[in-house]
This record gives sequence, structure tokens and C-alpha cells, in this order.
Amino acid sequence: MCGIVACVGREDSLEIILDGLKKLEYRGYDSAGVAIFSDDKVKVVKTRGKIANLRKKVAEQPLSGNCGIGHTRWATHGSPSTLNAHPHQYEQVTIVHNGIIENYAKIKANLEEQGNKFVSETDSEILAHLVQANLLQGKTPVQSLQNSLALLEGTWAVALLIEEQPHKIWCALNQSPLVLGKGRNGTYASSDLTAVLPYTREMIFPEDGDICELSSDSIKIIDKDGNQAERAPQIIDWNPVVAEKAGFKHFMLKEIHEQPRSVTDTFRGKIDRENFTVKLPELDLDFSSIGNIYLVACGTSYYAALIGKFLIERLARIPVYTDIGSEFRYRQPLIKQGDLLVSISQSGETADTLAAVKEAQKRGAKAVSISNVLNSQIPRISQFQLYTHAGPEIGVASTKAFTAQITALLLFALKLAQNRGTLQRKFREELIQEILALPSLMHQVVSHASHLNVIARRYGNARDFLYIGRGINYPIALEGALKMKEISYIHAEGYPAGEMKHGPIALIEDGLPTVVIATKNDLYEKIVSNLVEVKSRGGQIIAIASQGDDQIGEIANDLFLLPPTHYLLEPLLTVLPMQLLAYYMAVHKGTDVDQPRNLAKSVTVE
Ligand code: G6P
Repeated sequence: MCGIVACVGREDSLEIILDGLKKLEYRGYDSAGVAIFSDDKVKVVKTRGKIANLRKKVAEQPLSGNCGIGHTRWATHGSPSTLNAHPHQYEQVTIVHNGIIENYAKIKANLEEQGNKFVSETDSEILAHLVQANLLQGKTPVQSLQNSLALLEGTWAVALLIEEQPHKIWCALNQSPLVLGKGRNGTYASSDLTAVLPYTREMIFPEDGDICELSSDSIKIIDKDGNQAERAPQIIDWNPVVAEKAGFKHFMLKEIHEQPRSVTDTFRGKIDRENFTVKLPELDLDFSSIGNIYLVACGTSYYAALIGKFLIERLARIPVYTDIGSEFRYRQPLIKQGDLLVSISQSGETADTLAAVKEAQKRGAKAVSISNVLNSQIPRISQFQLYTHAGPEIGVASTKAFTAQITALLLFALKLAQNRGTLQRKFREELIQEILALPSLMHQVVSHASHLNVIARRYGNARDFLYIGRGINYPIALEGALKMKEISYIHAEGYPAGEMKHGPIALIEDGLPTVVIATKNDLYEKIVSNLVEVKSRGGQIIAIASQGDDQIGEIANDLFLLPPTHYLLEPLLTVLPMQLLAYYMAVHKGTDVDQPRNLAKSVTVE
């Protein structure tokens, strides 16, 4: 996830771009840059770090002009450095890009064979080379973009300047956000409304495949078939603070809704849809000789590890141990050469997880990191890196990073299984088909968020919550309870449902809300018995169940139904109502949802 701002008009564009980028920092902030037409030359200034750094740099190297593009980056290909920061420039062409070009390596290799030289490690730079090659052949800017984009696989929103054509900007998009604005003093493009809202409320939402040509007083759109298209402008009356969160009240809610996209981005380019195999070239490991696997993490990431254990053991039949980061190094772990430590950390910085990786390496094991932040500390010291592509997570309580971690663990488990030959092709095919269908199911679930708001209202005065689940949904019960504690400050416990009779059942009394994950799978009958035990002691049941289950509605006090998916993928759906229930409880209590008391987003001390 990155942020783009572009503008051309009658005012100096530098301040408009810097101000807009600052508002888009939530989309990424590891490096930033700007390109402005100045005396008919395109001048670029870029730097590592946040927009404040870029401001300092442009103060040292003054820039001014009425047409420009800017970018704030969240690295996916190539470390967060000045060289990898956007804009990228090649001869006549300067571009900024948000998205992932899946097949860039092949295109880059071809261009290199033809003698093209690249200065960055990014996937984006190839687009400047492709467009330039088309311009040289006498193609128009629109044709050049069309021809170049036709070669790409992946997602993009791009804005582009061509030196021979001052005072114009071209934009294109495919599955990445882009909004255009038409104001009194010029025209604008941005990854979201926030950046443009101070200058105009008249917005145009181009469609995938459109190519847009912006000049100071007009916006021309060519659709994917090459025809001029009319996209009706909409008048936006959001206030700027709401707009920063894309209309959501909190970043956490926005991030919950982003999950279909971040899961897709995490498996994007890693699934061979023809052969139903998983490609993870970044894990250049001898999978056949791995001894034991240790999954180590903290907080929500630890619950992803528990799901990872389930997936790896079930699919690849290798024993997996799970450890909490802060415990691992103090128990003299038996990890040794030949074993693999897989750390899971959204930030890639958590001190206890980092220390566990070092401990494992000291004992001779190799380390794989699953992280959301490119080149953060843990991936840097690990031998292998598998990145999630959730984009920056602003809400302190983790949501979209968690589902992206489960996705990465699923890919890892499938890759292991594939290389060790533990899965029948038919089963693999079935599972991969279901993975591909999952984002749209996740979308269906979050679109019913308001139902959880109603349920949350009903339990507004509860002082305790119990969460129970079984099998692969047991870690989701733990995560549900953690979310409730973190943001609503309500005491909550997660338990494997079968353990109820060994203690927690003593807690059940009139009115205690118990959230039960009771989806239709092999453990369904068993969990229904646990549920009846709670109910008969006066507990209130909130059941997360499967569509088409008409038995459970008779027992549960409240019901939230999920569409069916493969058992091994259920956590990616069952966690969504957990996140939403905690969220709405917190909203009703009036707590600080995005920055709950006493918590920090990344914990870099022991
Ligand atoms: C903190 C955060 C949690 C997160 C945990 C682990 O406690 O508040 O949301 O799950 O750290 O963070 P990591 O970055 O290592 O995944």
C-alpha cells in the first residue's frame, strides 16, 4: 500500500502535493518523493523516511511549478531507501505507482537483455522503461500506457509525467484506488479523497482499465476498449477528518473492512492457478530435510502461530512447536541445527520475538520471518523472509495483519506439503480454489457488520465474556477474547470448548455472555453439547455458526451466520465477527479504539 498525489493547475503544486502526501501517510511512510515540472524539466526530490523528511529535503533543493506528482511508500519490492523511493524516472518518463506488479522480474530481465539499466530494486521502475520504449516508437502517451500496462500482471494505480508534454499528467488504475478531482484552480489525482478534499469536492471515480489525462482545466478518460468515457462527477460532503479514515469512524474499523484486499494481496502472485501449486521462491530451503518447526510470536501474532501449527501439521505432517516470544529463550529450547524457527511479527520489531530468533540461530537453526514491514529488524536478521502485504496497520489492536499472517502460514504449509508430497493433487486443487474464493466471502461477512453492532448493544453492560471454540477455531476464541480485552477493557477468557468441564463451567451464571464458534464441521456436534452445558446453567449464547444451520438458532440467544468454506480456512472468516463484536462493544463504551490505554503498536522492549 502506498499513496499517490498528483496535480496540475494554476497554483504552485509542491505545497498541494506535500500536504496531500502527509494525509496519505497512513498508507505508508518508509520513503517519499515528488516530481515537479520546473522550467519544462521534470525535477525529482526523494528521500527515505516520512513526509517531514521530504519537506526538509525540498527546502534544501527548492522546487516550484504548476504540475507534479508525489508518492509516499510502503515498501513491497526493494528496501525502504532513497533509491527505491518513487518517483522513478527514465529518460522522458517519470512515474509513481501504488500496487504490486507480479511479473516484473521477467519483464525487467527482458529489458536488461536489451541494454536497459535500472537504478532501483522496485517492481515499479519497469513501467517507466516500457512507456519510454513506446514513446520512442512514436506512440501517443495514451497508447504508450495502454501497450505497457497490457504486459503487466498485478495491481496498480499510476501517475506519470512526460517531459516533452508539460502541464499534463496521465493516470491509470487496475484494482488499486485512484480518485480524480476537478477544482476551480486545477485538476487532481490521489489514492484517496483526503488529499484532494481541501481543493475540490467534485470527484470522479475512474474504473479499472481507464487511462486518464489531466490538464489544468479538464479531465479526459479513455476506457479499457480505447473509447472516450464519461464518468459522472460526484459531490463529496465528507469532512476531512472522516475522509482520512475513508469514511470509517476508526482506523480499526477501516482495517477490518480492508481484509478481503490484504488477504488477496498476500497470496497475489504466489499461486499458480493452472497447476494449483504454491510458488514461494523467497523460501529457497531444502524442505525435505527440515527437522522440527518452531513458530514463535507475541500477542495476536501468537494466535496466528497456533493456527499455523494446525495447518502445517495437518497438511505437511511435520511436528510443530509453538512458543510465546518472551518464553522461548528462557526455557532452554531444544531447537537445533536442521530445525526451522518461523517468527511471526507484524512490525518485525517486537523485542521478545527478535530475541527468540537470535536464540534459535545461536543454537544452529535457520530462521524464516513472516512480517508486514519490509526490511524491519526481524526479517533483516532472518535467513528467509516471507512478507504479508496488509499495508500499514494503524489501529493498535491487530486485525488485517492477523488474517494476512494466517494467509502467509497457509501458503507456507501448502508449499511444505507440496515439496514433501504429503497432499493429493485433488485435495490441493480443492483447497486452492477455496482460497481464491475466500476474499469475496470475507467481503460478504464484513458487509453484515451492523448486525454485530446490534448484538454488542444488547450486551453493553456485560462485565465478563467467555469465548469457546474447538480445533482450528480454538485460537480464534483466544483472539476474540484478546480483542475484547484490548479495546473495550472488558474481562474476557478464551477456552477450548472441551475444557469447559475442567474449570470454566464454574464461572457460568445467569446472563454471562459466551461467544461460541460453532461452524458446521467435524466437531460441530461436540461443540453443540458444550453450548447446551452453558445454556442450561443460565449463560447467554452468541453463536457464530454456518449459513443453513437451523438447529443452532433454537439454542443460541444471538446468531451470526457465515458462508461455508473449507474447514482449514474457517479462521479467516470466524475471526471477522470477533473483531467486529469487540469493536462495537468498545464504541458503545466510548473507549479510545485506535489507541487503547496502556498498549503500544510495537513493543520494542522486553
Ligand atoms: C503488541 C500489539 C499487538 C501485536 C503484538 C505483537 O502487543 O499491540 O497488536 O499483536 O504487539 O506485535 P508484532 O508486531 O510482533 O506482530
